Amino acid sequence: MSLNFPALVQLLTDRLPTVMSPARVQHVLGVTHVAATLAGRHGLDPERAALAGLLHDQFKEVEPDRLRRELEALDERIAPDDLDFPKVWHGARAAAYARHELGIAAADLLESVALHSTSDAAASPLTHLVFIADYAEPGRKRAEAAEILRVAREDLAAGYRLALRTKIGYLLRRGRAALHPRALRALEEAFGPGELDQLAREAASEPENGPRKPGGEKTFELSH
Ligand SMILES: [Fe+2]
Ligand SMILES: [Fe+2]
Repeated sequence: MSLNFPALVQLLTDRLPTVMSPARVQHVLGVTHVAATLAGRHGLDPERAALAGLLHDQFKEVEPDRLRRELEALDERIAPDDLDFPKVWHGARAAAYARHELGIAAADLLESVALHSTSDAAASPLTHLVFIADYAEPGRKRAEAAEILRVAREDLAAGYRLALRTKIGYLLRRGRAALHPRALRALEEAFGPGELDQLAREAASEPENGPRKPGGEKTFELSH
């Protein structure tokens, strides 16, 4: 199947409330809006950015065992880096859905969906943009999100660096000892070696308030 942009938007938008909570629908629409707007400002394709936004969390509420089975049925496999991080599998599943079930072939679009939680070294500009939008869409009430959006509107690379640093710092302050290897590669590419140690020192000096997840929980996804 290969659908044009309006048909894909219709299909994906209609699908959202059938597979996720109303709050998550709002998040997805927020990511979609931010991604398309940033793309237009920075010379990237707003349609691809919007589709990435609409796709990225379509499988977020599906259990990991089912995600694995469905990926295997499509002849896809969980990436070795992902084996210990089932909370990011929904990105790979959404990319597989786009490729196999919607006929979307654009490599940067598929990558941006698959890597939206973590980014990676050598990722495409669209992946950077979707990573920013997922972290900083207006539904994220944190003050840093608004600042990331402000920076990203002016300078996409600077917004990406800030989003990456802020997300990893946040997870460190929440006591998430296990960070995804792709995110760590992305951090090193963006800042050079030693940045993780610096962030860990900052996190130790200003731990996050609020309930903590069990130490070492392997995730790189926020709550939505
Ligand atoms: Fe996600
Ligand atoms: Fe998301």
